[in-house]
Parts: sequence; C-alpha cells; structure tokens
Amino acid sequence: MDTQEMIDLCKRHTLFSWSATGAVDPLPIARAEGIFLYTPSGERIIDFNSQLMSVNIGHSHPRVIEAIKRQLDSGLIYTFPGSATEVRARLAKKLADLVPGDINTFFFTLGGAEANENAIKAARLYTGRHKILSRYRSYHGATHACMQLTGDPRRWANEPGAPGFIRVMDPRPYRFSFGADDKEITENNLEYLEEVIMYEGPETIAAMFIETVTGTNGILPPPEGYLAGLRELLSRHGILLVCDEVMCGWGRTGKLFAFEHGGIVPDIVTMAKGLTSSYAPLGAMGLSDPIAQHFQDHVFWGGLTYNAHALMLAVAEANIDVLLEEGLVENAARLGKVMRAEMDRLTEKHPSVKEGRNVGLFGMIDVQKNASGEPMAPYNGKSEAMTRLGAFFRERGLFTFIRWGSFMCNPPLCITEEQLLEAFAIVDEGLAITDEYYEG
Ligand SMILES: Cc1ncc(COP(=O)(O)O)c(C=O)c1O
Repeated sequence: MDTQEMIDLCKRHTLFSWSATGAVDPLPIARAEGIFLYTPSGERIIDFNSQLMSVNIGHSHPRVIEAIKRQLDSGLIYTFPGSATEVRARLAKKLADLVPGDINTFFFTLGGAEANENAIKAARLYTGRHKILSRYRSYHGATHACMQLTGDPRRWANEPGAPGFIRVMDPRPYRFSFGADDKEITENNLEYLEEVIMYEGPETIAAMFIETVTGTNGILPPPEGYLAGLRELLSRHGILLVCDEVMCGWGRTGKLFAFEHGGIVPDIVTMAKGLTSSYAPLGAMGLSDPIAQHFQDHVFWGGLTYNAHALMLAVAEANIDVLLEEGLVENAARLGKVMRAEMDRLTEKHPSVKEGRNVGLFGMIDVQKNASGEPMAPYNGKSEAMTRLGAFFRERGLFTFIRWGSFMCNPPLCITEEQLLEAFAIVDEGLAITDEYYEG
C-alpha cells in the first residue's frame, strides 16, 4: 500500500486518541526492531519513548515471537476466565515469586486502566469504604473511573464523573512548593495529606492511588522518605496504598518495581505496558495476602471476557524471561547513570534547559523560557519553540513525546551506551532551537 494512502485510510476510518483526528499527522511505521522503528520508505528512527513507555525489552525480540508461535501451535489460545490453564498457573507463580513482599495473587486485565478499575473495586469491596484519593499530577487511564483518578487535563472533558474521587496535591506540584528540600517537602506534604484525610473522614476512604514515580506528568520521583511516610500514614487510617506501576514498573526505573526504591510494599500494585513490553495487551492487579484472603471467601465483583487470555499470558511469560535473563533491569540502572550525566551536560550547555530528571531509563527534560524557570510552553499548552523542537526530532529520526514545555527520554531498556549517546547527540542539536527562544 502506498504510504499516503495508508495514512489517509487510517485518518478516514479510525479515530486517534486524545486528538481531533483531522489534526493528526501520524508517523507511518512499517516495522520495528530493537530500539529502532522503520518507516515504509526504510527510514530508521530511534524509539526514544519505547512507544508509550511500554516496549521495555525492545521491538521484535525473537524469543517473544517464538513464544507467541509456540502458544498458537499448542492449540491453547483462548479459554473462558473460569478455566485453569498451564500458562495461567506458570505466570501467576512467576509473578508471585517476582513481585516483592506479600503480593502473591493476580487478576489479569487487558491493560492499565482496567487494572486500576479493578483495584478500585477490590479496595472498596475489601474495606467497605467508598472514597478514593489520588494526586493531581497523575494519569491512571482513560476509562470512566480512571479518568476521575487522573489529575492531568485529560480529565477535564470527561467531567463530571463518578462521585467519591478526591484529588490532592503531589509532593512536587506545578508551582506551589511544600519546602526547600526533600525532608521538608515530605513532612509538609504528608501533614497536608493527613489534614485532607481528616476533613474527608478517614473511615470513608478506601484507598489512595499513586504513580510510584509519576510518569506522563513529569517523571517525578518521590522525595526522600515520602513512600515510607505515606505508607505509615495510610496504614494508620486503614486506607490501602495502591501503587500504579503501569508505566514505572517492570524495570523502567532500574529496579523491577519502582516502590522498591522506597523500601515499601503497597497493598495493591497495578501493572501493564512492560508486563508484555506491549507485544500483547495485558495488565494485572496484584493483591497482598490479606486482601487476596478476603476474596477467597467473598465474591470479587469483576470480570472480563479476556481475563487470563492464554496467548497474552504466554507473551508476558516470555517477555519477563527476556527482561531478567538479558539483565535489562540492570542495564536500565547502569545506563540511567549515563542518562544522568548527559542531562547534566545539556543543562550546563543550554540556557533553555531547566532541568533533567531521571530514575533509571525513565527521564524527562524541562525546557525554560527565562532564568526564572518559566516553562517554554504553558501547562496544557503549546509554543512555537516546542513545536519546532518536535519537528526537528522527527526530521532527525528521533521519536519521542513533547509534552507542553518538556520532552521524554524513555528508550527501550535494551539500548546500548553508544545508542543512548547517539540519541542525546540529536537532543543536544535540537536544544539549539529552544536556546533561540530563551529570553534570559
Ligand atoms: C501510570 C499509568 N496508569 C495507567 C495507564 C493506563 O493504561 P492503559 O492505557 O493500558 O489502559 C497508563 C497509560 O499510559 C499509565 O501511564
């Protein structure tokens, strides 16, 4: 098919997410391998965002392709959710062994939003409480309830939504500051949170959802002591902690799960994306033992036609084997240091770089308009400088997401040091454009 015809048909007969379809300029992709995407004309593009921060092991890994073929050949592709299958047994045991602490029981979904939807249900059914807390700088999925969990502007057009969702300020909100250093930020934010809990009525709150490391809304690692403090505060009030690790889980931050950096274990963890590296749509909700025990005796009021789909589970199994056996979590931790050094170099060199943040290979660079740190594009807005930067990346064969005044640095975890430096060399050149707009 001719590339333009392909684009036209996609635009004529499909809707593109979060966009007016007419305004979309889709990237034509024919195939992908490792860290590279290839257009139909053969142009090579570095995938500097792992598509949706999700292709953790890299594209077209032969072991996963082989596992898909094997599962198809086995004659077990799909059976109803009430069935027991070998792949379901194997993967669940593997997850129980790998996910830290007492999280040993899993409910499979098709993606991240459904994992969070089911975590809302599980928390409400287990605690008998209905309110759910979440934070403004967050994205938790596009389904009805997850849109209300979500803090970012994608929620606005989806309001009013279901009642009972309370959003609070993050430890690092957009302009307001809870303090000068991590210790002060943590203490003040948790004190503020406890006051919100008091006003809402602790006995009415089932759970608080957090992205352990905030993803789309800033790649914001929690300040020192926050996770442990939050864990203690919520437990004291009988409120469950749900860590949404849909984006930050499965090695992205240099540990298998981001909550390991804080030395805590949540009551519920949700995951998707890196669970299969997006070779198949699959998510999961992981329950700690007391909650799982509750559902041994009480009905879990949730279900999906494709719950525990054998083919999807086989993909997850092979993907996890690759991630672990090829040392990709360790690679993310090691190359995270190279990314840190590159971000520091670029901050030093380019006046328009405000700061770079990263945990492992989970990174973002903020671009500023002036010395007071005003973002190069406003919250939820665009600017000529950022649009030109995006166009430059595309022209130079670097795929990433520009988000308002920032851009993402999230390559597949199989990237080599040489490839990472190649990507940052393009970023370096691009930042000369935003420097032109820096007002001093
Ligand atoms: C942190 C987080 N939670 C949930 C979701 C929703 O996942 P899905 O799009 O698979 O429903 C996403 C997707 O980007 C996410 O980043």
